[in-house]
Amino acid sequence: MGSPIVLGIESSCDETGAGLVREGRLLGHAIASSMDEHARYGGVVPEIAARAHVHALRPVVRQALDNAGLTLSDIGAVAVTTGPGLSGALQVGLAGAKGIAYALDVPLYGVHHLAGHVAADTLEHGPLPNPSVVLIVSGGHTSLLLVRDLARNPIEHLGDTLDDAAGECFDKVARIFGLPYPGGPAIDRAAREGDHRAVAFPRPLPRSYNFSFAGLKTAAARWAEAHAGRGLPVNDGAASLQEAVVDVLTRKAVAACIEHGVGTLLVVGGVAANSRIRSLAEERCQASGIELRVPPPSLCTDNGAMIAAVGDLLVRTRAEPASLDLSIDPSAPLENAALHPVATGAVAA
Ligand code: KG4
Ligand code: ZN
Repeated sequence: MGSPIVLGIESSCDETGAGLVREGRLLGHAIASSMDEHARYGGVVPEIAARAHVHALRPVVRQALDNAGLTLSDIGAVAVTTGPGLSGALQVGLAGAKGIAYALDVPLYGVHHLAGHVAADTLEHGPLPNPSVVLIVSGGHTSLLLVRDLARNPIEHLGDTLDDAAGECFDKVARIFGLPYPGGPAIDRAAREGDHRAVAFPRPLPRSYNFSFAGLKTAAARWAEAHAGRGLPVNDGAASLQEAVVDVLTRKAVAACIEHGVGTLLVVGGVAANSRIRSLAEERCQASGIELRVPPPSLCTDNGAMIAAVGDLLVRTRAEPASLDLSIDPSAPLENAALHPVATGAVAA
């Protein structure tokens, strides 16, 4: 018998996702988003997100199964995001995952959300070269990682943001510029109509591979204030801000590959959907002979398939499943793909 089909459930923020993966292959997935309900508040409202997950979870799992042409009884293991994220939102996904795992009597795995972002790429481009350098850029996190075997080895942090995450910088500046929520895609769209040389925003380059975006956010706010009452050239501001963020991110990521002698760079997380980070990373990787891997935009932002992908890797390394009293860890640091102790090879074939 082959490897079991893994159901992955994601509910850490405003997307409810379910995905089905077997042996590295995506069989089907579905997503519901409460984004529109948060738009008028300018950011995710935790209580609204949690309630939306309660409504969406069952239909999303059903839709993922339908897309894959499968039924509930085909599921052989369940993986769920247990952190980091909003606690109420995480609780809903975990409760649902436990219910399914218990009812089907199949193993349950708690997964680190950011490891999910990394694994998303394997669904499109196959197994990760060992080692790979990974730039994770999401709404809450910005890290440069050295990843070996995602399911077996601890993840090494080469650098992290010292203050705001890249996506957070886009979201906050978009709000200052009067662009709609979520800010990242709005900045991306506005930037296409603007000149990225228009405003000389600072390139925050702390020593080492750490990042810092708070100063850039402040510079963008000052620039917007300076235009008060005179009409803000939003497109130029968006293009210049985007260029500053993307320049710093890609420059450091490529430098890390070169310094560590690593031939593959992955760019993952919601901000990896940005059109400029995709093109500049490609340009710079090509110039340095580095293979660039970026998931398709639909797998960059939060989804259940990426969590199923981690579950599938854990299953195939025979990692020990979690117990049914597994709980959430809203501020879990990224150390391992599984968010509970696993002894690999512990489960009999
Ligand atoms: O990974 P993700 O979906 O959720 C978190 O784990 O945080 O990332 C969401 C972040 C948000 O900050 C959003 O503005 C940003 O990704 N984002 C983008 C784009 N699409 C999403 N940022 C820039 N350009 C985009 N096209
Ligand atoms: Zn995410």
